[in-house]
Amino acid sequence: MVGSRRLLIKNGVVVVYVVLSVLRWRSHRILRCFDRMASALASVALSAPFARGVPLPENPMVQRIGAGKIHDNRLFKGKAFRRVSMAVSVNVSRFDGVTMAPPDPILGVSEAFRADTSDLKLNLGVGAYRTEELQPYVLNVVEKAEKLMLERGENKEYLPIEGLAAFNKVTAELLFGADNPVIQEGRVATIQGLSGTGSLRLAAAFIQRYFSDAKALISSPTWGNHKNIFNDARVPWSEYRYYDPRTVGLDFDGMVADIKAAPDGSFVLLHGCAHNPTGIDPTPDQWEKIADVIQEKNHIPFFDVAYQGFASGSLDADAYSVRLFVRRGFELLVAQSYSKNLGLYAERIGAINVVCSSPDAGTRVKSQLKRLARPMYSNPPVHGARIVANVVGDPNLFNEWKQEMELMAGRIKNVRQRLYENLSQKDESGKDWSFVLKQIGMFSYTGLNKVQSEHMMDKWHIYMTKDGRISLAGLSLSKCEYLADAIIDSFHNLFTAALLVSKLVRPSKVNV
Ligand SMILES: *[C@@H]1O[C@H](CO)[C@@H](O)[C@H](O)[C@H]1NC(C)=O
Ligand SMILES: *[C@@H]1O[C@H](CO)[C@@H](O)[C@H](O)[C@H]1NC(C)=O
Repeated sequence: MVGSRRLLIKNGVVVVYVVLSVLRWRSHRILRCFDRMASALASVALSAPFARGVPLPENPMVQRIGAGKIHDNRLFKGKAFRRVSMAVSVNVSRFDGVTMAPPDPILGVSEAFRADTSDLKLNLGVGAYRTEELQPYVLNVVEKAEKLMLERGENKEYLPIEGLAAFNKVTAELLFGADNPVIQEGRVATIQGLSGTGSLRLAAAFIQRYFSDAKALISSPTWGNHKNIFNDARVPWSEYRYYDPRTVGLDFDGMVADIKAAPDGSFVLLHGCAHNPTGIDPTPDQWEKIADVIQEKNHIPFFDVAYQGFASGSLDADAYSVRLFVRRGFELLVAQSYSKNLGLYAERIGAINVVCSSPDAGTRVKSQLKRLARPMYSNPPVHGARIVANVVGDPNLFNEWKQEMELMAGRIKNVRQRLYENLSQKDESGKDWSFVLKQIGMFSYTGLNKVQSEHMMDKWHIYMTKDGRISLAGLSLSKCEYLADAIIDSFHNLFTAALLVSKLVRPSKVNV
């Protein structure tokens, strides 16, 4: 009796086990089936709003009518997204299609520098001022202005979209000169920007919206971010010749020819002073001729002024090119940055100025710049704007600032001189290094190519961008000799190899 009951229980357990197993297996299939259905539904739900939402009609009326629909789609998308993310297997990322972005060619250098453990390492990649001890530097006038701000107990209320009024006033005056007729006649539309980059980006968005057929012209080479900015703003661009590798100087004829060949009404991006990356600027006479061609072609000058006062030590000398074009009656754009000249890198403080032919045009342009800024970042940060307004607006601090700028510019000039002397004395090949002295500002273009620049990093632990640019602001007098040794070694020992590489590479470039 006991034995058969035991058998019965045992069989019962087996049956229940089998039934449960089958159910489990089926429910897996059912769940998987649900999974697939949900995924399919999700892709339909997600693709529909994107497909309809992306190509926004240009006509503002149509845009307004369309807005309701887009808003609905976004709600639907939000719900679908939530439901799907629960149903889809945890191990499948919705971001699987996102590829790895390449490191930034300039900021990536700093990352590589940080990873290097050698005592010899030197970071000449990023353009940031360092003291002779290679430490970051906060200007005395900045500390004084901040102390003043603290004493006044200023609040943290939002700024208007166009930024701090006191900042906008002094920044335009500093650039054009307070007594410039364009200021007196109220023909400049100035709005505070997120330093130079943000100001350029805003202007690029403005160009895209109001000059959709126009092209931008940028120098070859230029600061790498210029291309990114125009690309992201969907402004087509092409390059004009600028650098002549044979002389490590300006290819003036090429520059003029390319500006002449561009479609009429192009936006010509010009570096107001201390061209980045080459450190090579046109002479006053060449600026006049550049202005002639731009006028002849009905182009619009677009200046990037990142180093006013920092390049030469004089605010007026560094504003020469911009003021020349203004004097000649151009309508033009100027982006400004206070990262270098006031050392306010992380405060993201700068401005975009548009000089217009009438105060009325200025008012309208300003209203549209504000309209572009609002959905991008709403309104700009206040801290850096107050620092600039306090320093430039106060005669004592202003004078002190000018002295500090001369000091910074002077240190860079000294380092430049010392580097040149070391290069000339140590290099026995008789190569002419005088181009180092002709360049201005914080950068020097060494003429080293990619292979040679990589050798600087790999063998000498000297970090620089691969276009051969070095930041002299990150160099001390005591490191000049070491740097000169590295440059001479990289230049001569890799010269043949580099030639070979360029010969091997060139034919394939032609094919592409
Ligand atoms: C997730 O996927 C990876 C491969 O894509 C695999 O190696 C891993 O074992 C999976 N993890 C789980 C929990 O399934
Ligand atoms: C080269 O630089 C070193 C410091 O790095 C300096 O002591 C020396 O005087 C320099 N030589 C010349 C010729 O300038």
